[in-house]
Amino acid sequence: MKTASFEFLRKTIHDESGIVVNEDKMAMVAARLTKRVRSLGLANDEDYIAFLKENRKTEIVELLDVISTNVTRFYREDQHFKFLDEYLIDILNTGRKRIRIWCAASSTGEEPYTLAITALEALRKTGKQVDLKILATDISPTVLGHAQRGVYSEQNAGPIPPELLDRYFDKVDGQFVAKEILKQMLVFRRVNLMDQPFPLKGPLDLIFCRNVMIYFNSTDRRKVVEGFCKLLTPDGRLVVGLSESLNGMGDVVERDGASIYRRVL
Ligand SMILES: C[S@@+](CC[C@H](N)C(=O)[O-])C[C@H]1O[C@@H](n2cnc3c(N)ncnc32)[C@H](O)[C@@H]1O
Repeated sequence: MKTASFEFLRKTIHDESGIVVNEDKMAMVAARLTKRVRSLGLANDEDYIAFLKENRKTEIVELLDVISTNVTRFYREDQHFKFLDEYLIDILNTGRKRIRIWCAASSTGEEPYTLAITALEALRKTGKQVDLKILATDISPTVLGHAQRGVYSEQNAGPIPPELLDRYFDKVDGQFVAKEILKQMLVFRRVNLMDQPFPLKGPLDLIFCRNVMIYFNSTDRRKVVEGFCKLLTPDGRLVVGLSESLNGMGDVVERDGASIYRRVL
């Protein structure tokens, strides 16, 4: 790949998604792009750049799918679901009737379905009735489509405890299909975290934004976190990935647990 092509792609990817592709990732980008270039019947990277320039609006979606990492799993960083359980039980016991959760960068759905299962179990335990909705968003329409279908292989469903798998999924042709009770709680929508103000109505009780800001630079990360804080209730929490830290943002958020933050009032 020519350096100029790589630099153009790096800039385009950052401008559109906030994702930083490091300078030493040229081989990775070239390898991942090969299949896309071939499937379009193009000869090389330069032809692809020309195609991207002509079809930027549609092709950028494909490019991001090729470049970005969608790795996720049910109960990933499971201490956050224990936190969710306790947090929900606390607010349910105050008599709250409306709870809103945003799962930003939800990938193929394992995270928002785990949130929904945890929430339904908290409702079962407390015997409370509440209007609880989870908005699951991602920049990629491909992963959102997967999430909306709610169909997972036996291997993907592995981390779900058998009792909960039985309660919340149907087994169809060897696959696990999310039941209506889960799906009714979830709304899926495309949201690019770089588009501010976020096209969402607050106030929100919880925002889970895990394992995506790690790909952003510190300026973009701060903007995203500031945007989240505008939507959170004063008592709300922002949960980020365990390997992510919001160091240097003490004027915006304060730590309240492992990768769990409250907004600074
Ligand atoms: C590694 S996955 C994390 C999935 C899940 N949150 C988890 O922790 O398991 C990162 C996701 O972020 C999405 N993403 C990347 N840039 C984004 C952006 N600017 N806005 C919204 N989603 C983005 C990707 O499409 C991908 O699905």
